[in-house]
Amino acid sequence: MKVNKAVFPAAGLGTRLLPITKAIPKEMLILVDKPLIQYGVEECIESDIQDIIIITGRGKTAIEDYFDRSIEHEVLLKEKGKHDLLKSVNDIASMINFSYTRQKEALGLGHAILCAQNLIGDEPFSIILSDDIIDAKVPVMKQMIEIYKKYRYSILAVQKVKDEDISKYGIIKGIEIEKGIYKIEDLVEKPGLEEAPSNLAIIGRYILTPRIFDFLKETKPGKGGEIQLTDAIKSLLSIQPVYALEFEGTRYDGGNKLELLEAQITFGLKNEELKKGLLNFIQNINL
Ligand code: G1P
Repeated sequence: MKVNKAVFPAAGLGTRLLPITKAIPKEMLILVDKPLIQYGVEECIESDIQDIIIITGRGKTAIEDYFDRSIEHEVLLKEKGKHDLLKSVNDIASMINFSYTRQKEALGLGHAILCAQNLIGDEPFSIILSDDIIDAKVPVMKQMIEIYKKYRYSILAVQKVKDEDISKYGIIKGIEIEKGIYKIEDLVEKPGLEEAPSNLAIIGRYILTPRIFDFLKETKPGKGGEIQLTDAIKSLLSIQPVYALEFEGTRYDGGNKLELLEAQITFGLKNEELKKGLLNFIQNINL
């Protein structure tokens, strides 16, 4: 069955980016000229996904407003004859199908995904964590769907990380069955360096079979007292294979101030309109 749906958990409080996240959802922070979440949405469109389900929480209405029509702007831009801007405003609203559901309590990533169960039903689906910004020639979700077509079971995006970063991620243990493709044997959420089974970290892109919901319902709070998606995937392993893809692309952690800045510069330099001016600015920067 084709992967038609993508879940975007977006109920988190964005603590690492406080104080801005008191008032602005981290998904709406700007990366060059678009909010972070839009990069994930465009990745879905390029991966032929039809429906996006956003898991929101309190203080996140800006996301819904952004992907909705804005009649006030449309009227104003029409009156002023600003057709290019009008198109950019309308294009966002008609990009793809959006549904929203609320995660009423911040009980963890696993719990957020469980909130989408009714909207997903009995089909494989994808998950995008929009603060994992990935610069890739082929969108990572598209790379994963290609692998899914072959293996037909759950696939997680992974990347090798440095020893000092291991405790920030879900870490897998797997056997490499093809170049960059692992059959997972075990996985553990945010282990210490000593207990980590490898340095292959889960990055925020998943394709999961709907059987995951049976296990999410049973998953008890784990690391940090939260219901962890990693723990549910570990249980899923008891009935189905799960694979990992070491994707091609550079990933920036959007919740980390330095990496967010690095992403701004990289994406800015890749933007034809901004490249020349930005390069000139960097070369002549006066510190
Ligand atoms: C979540 C997952 C973790 C994964 C990470 C990727 O953690 O729980 O397994 O490695 O996303 O970004 P979080 O960053 O939400 O703490």
